[in-house]
Order: sequence, then C-alpha cells, then structure tokens
Amino acid sequence: MTITNMTNAHVAPIARLEKLCFSDPWSEKSIETELSCRLSCWLVAMEGETLLGYVGSQTVMEESDMMNLAVHPDYRRRGVAQKLIEALEAALRERGSKALTLEVRASNEPAIALYERLGFQQVGLRKSYYRNPKEDARILRKAL
Ligand SMILES: CC(C)(COP(=O)(O)OP(=O)(O)OC[C@H]1O[C@@H](n2cnc3c(N)ncnc32)[C@H](O)[C@@H]1OP(=O)(O)O)[C@@H](O)C(=O)NCCC(=O)NCCS
Repeated sequence: MTITNMTNAHVAPIARLEKLCFSDPWSEKSIETELSCRLSCWLVAMEGETLLGYVGSQTVMEESDMMNLAVHPDYRRRGVAQKLIEALEAALRERGSKALTLEVRASNEPAIALYERLGFQQVGLRKSYYRNPKEDARILRKAL
C-alpha cells in the first residue's frame, strides 16, 4: 500500500467510495474543487490501481479540520485508516499546523474507537449536526 497526495485521477473513485460509505456524500465536483484549494490536504491509500481509502482536510492558520475519511469495506481492519491519519498528521505538522479537529457521528463506534486509539479527545458535542439520519456530532481534537 502507498499513501500519496490526491490527484485528478483519484476524484471519481473517491466520489464512488463516498457514495458507498455515507448517506450524505460529497459530489465529484466538490471533491475536485479541493484539488485547487491551497488550504486543503487530501491523501489517498492505493494498492496498485485500487483506491483503498482516503482522508481529506483543510488548514486555516495553525488549525486543521479533518473533513472526511473512508476505507473501502473490503479493506477495513488492516490499518489503512490509521496509516492515512498518521500520514496526514505528518503532512500537517510539516505545514506548521498545531492541532487537528474532526466531527464524528455519536453512533459511529468504529471511527470513535480509531480516533481514541490515535489520541484524539472529545472537546465538544454539536446537537443534531448531521442529517440522514439526524444525529449529534462529537467533536474530537488532537494536538499535533
Ligand atoms: C472508520 C473507518 C475509516 C476505519 O477504517 P479501517 O481502515 O478499517 O481502520 P483501521 O484498520 O486503521 O483500524 C485501526 C484501529 O481502529 C479501531 N477500529 C477500526 N474499526 C473498528 C471497528 N469496526 N470496531 C472497533 N474498533 C475499530 C481498532 O482499534 C483498530 O485496530 P485493530 O484492528 O488492531 O483492532 C472505516 O470503518 C470506514 O470507512 N467507515 C465508514 C466511513 C466512516 O465512518 N468514516 C469516518 C467518518 S468520521
């Protein structure tokens, strides 16, 4: 598996994986916009030509937000997400970022287990933040 920056070639497969994983997926167009946004850092995990997963973030000043993370169902529990987040943390540190914050559905136990294992801590709760279905967001944060 290799982890690299997202390029144009990854946009369509990422959009397909978004649809597979989320009830409110990002469109191909909005993912493509991230390519030209200098605040954004998106990484992909590839095995040959196969997209295993991706993580997307934006950084303003010294604060970064993880906007999405997904691993294809066929490749879960192999450490792909962990490696993506570790690579993202390293890339963000390089850029001078000091902290990484994210929102996660309160019922998303796999993701919460992953984030806690990597040292993220809950710093807030946003009531009814998500739709389809409506649900609270836990806000997690980690110093970089
Ligand atoms: C959450 C998600 C990204 C995890 O991806 P993954 O590649 O399977 O995760 P990893 O293999 O790197 O897991 C690392 C550790 O996280 C924890 N973890 C991951 N998935 C878990 C699960 N289903 N149940 C419990 N713990 C889990 C474990 O501690 C795991 O280590 P272990 O396998 O040695 O026990 C993946 O399940 C996914 O894409 N889910 C749908 C999209 C999503 O919810 N994204 C997050 C939005 S905030």
